[in-house]
Amino acid sequence: MTQHIADVDLRGLSAKAKEFLGIDDSPEAERVRQMIADADRAELEAMRARQAANRNRAYARQRPTRYAQAGYDTLTEDQTHNGKIARWWDSGPRSLVLAGAARTGKTTAAYAITNDVHARGAWTVVRTAADLSAALKPDSGEPLAYQHAVECDLLLIDDLGRERVTDWWLEQLQRIVDARCSNNRRLIATTNHGVNATGTYDDLAERYGYPVVERLIDDGTVLFFDGPAMRNVVREW
Ligand SMILES: Nc1ncnc2c1ncn2[C@@H]1O[C@H](COP(=O)(O)OP(=O)(O)O)[C@@H](O)[C@H]1O
Ligand SMILES: [Mg+2]
Repeated sequence: MTQHIADVDLRGLSAKAKEFLGIDDSPEAERVRQMIADADRAELEAMRARQAANRNRAYARQRPTRYAQAGYDTLTEDQTHNGKIARWWDSGPRSLVLAGAARTGKTTAAYAITNDVHARGAWTVVRTAADLSAALKPDSGEPLAYQHAVECDLLLIDDLGRERVTDWWLEQLQRIVDARCSNNRRLIATTNHGVNATGTYDDLAERYGYPVVERLIDDGTVLFFDGPAMRNVVREW
């Protein structure tokens, strides 16, 4: 095991040996070393604070405003899935696919989770499949999009199945779900595909191929939303 010079007991060394080794253990030198260590720590803390602020900004920018207020307590009975939505982050399986027809409240349920997880300090990245695909393009102006999609604590891919599927996108999606699966990182996807949970699996497999869907759902589950379609109907103005 390597031992740092600061950990070595210098008291036994003669003044000559210290000079030969270039060791200065005077109180003044110790003070300077302490100042450097403090400055390093402060810089690291400032870097972490900047990183957290950047992630917060990115989350707020990527989340559509209509889902900003989504929370476990605002979900309807149909959306809660007997508390599974609220329990998922703490005790649910690695990945979660929320499937069902349009406007059954899948995206709102997904944001109930991500808003909570984000507020609790986990690095959360939210994107529609189409936006993620666009962000990964070399000329998107987001050179870190792939790294963020792979490394964040929780990735939400909203509306999987509405984006255009090309060989390039299939490869990107495969790499992302593989990497997240290998590193046991959590993932939520929402999709309109399928008429029930099994149908969702089959439809997605047909669209993306079995390897992608296996990794997407590996150590995970499909929750099927079959409640009534929800609409924000304005009656008075
Ligand atoms: N629990 C809820 N309370 C109020 N409005 C909701 C609720 N869940 C969904 N909505 C609204 O219903 C509409 C459809 O919900 P959304 O989650 O986008 O459905 P999906 O993703 O299944 O298409 C949206 O306008 C959303 O804001
Ligand atoms: Mg949706």
